[in-house]
Amino acid sequence: MYTEMLNNKLSDPEFLLKKEWIIQQIKFKLKLIDFELSKQHRRSMIQKVEHRIKDAESIARKLVKKGYKITFENAYQKLNDIIGIRVVCLYRDDIYNIAGLLKQQKDMILIKEKDYIKNPKKSGYQSLHLIFDVPLTYKDTVEMQRVEIQIRTVAMDFWAGVDNHICYKKNPAKMKTAELALKNYSTEISRMDKQMLELRKNAES
Ligand code: GTP
Ligand code: MG
Repeated sequence: MYTEMLNNKLSDPEFLLKKEWIIQQIKFKLKLIDFELSKQHRRSMIQKVEHRIKDAESIARKLVKKGYKITFENAYQKLNDIIGIRVVCLYRDDIYNIAGLLKQQKDMILIKEKDYIKNPKKSGYQSLHLIFDVPLTYKDTVEMQRVEIQIRTVAMDFWAGVDNHICYKKNPAKMKTAELALKNYSTEISRMDKQMLELRKNAES
């Protein structure tokens, strides 16, 4: 019932058009960022950019998990990731170079930064999360749109993909063994990412 109401609002063409606008705007910025960094470092920087608009069902699930009523207003005010953009690169330091340029954008206001690389989540999840408010200007109105940008290496992306498939958001009952294994693999992946970075630095010097 609640979800149906939410669904109607979330599938409103105007709502979706505004989200698409912001997504495209950021994707164009990322193209320029990729161009600049690729030129500077003489190698291709961004490997992949993905985006999604959170659907009504996962918005409802997340609101319940956070203890809020399932309303459009709560979805808007309490959730940071209705618009989600994911940027994947090869090396750990690329993440911070990309983030640095995103943070320099005058029309993107950094709301929150969560460094799950320096401080991985309990699950072992690693990524850099940047939450921005981005103004959408139409006629004489300016409406802030919140966006979550996740930046990670290919290895971190691989881990998150498998974790998502096996554990994350699933029934925790028989997940103990998989969780433990994934936590260990996360450490392995972190070690490997650091070694790959060393390898690159040696090759460059
Ligand atoms: P949720 O974790 O979705 O409840 O959001 P949050 O508000 O607690 O923010 P957080 O930064 O923890 O996570 C936001 C997003 O990061 C999620 O929607 C996932 O895309 C990703 N994420 C966070 N934790 C994990 C994890 O343990 N495994 C995987 N695969 N992804 C995660
Ligand atoms: Mg969380």
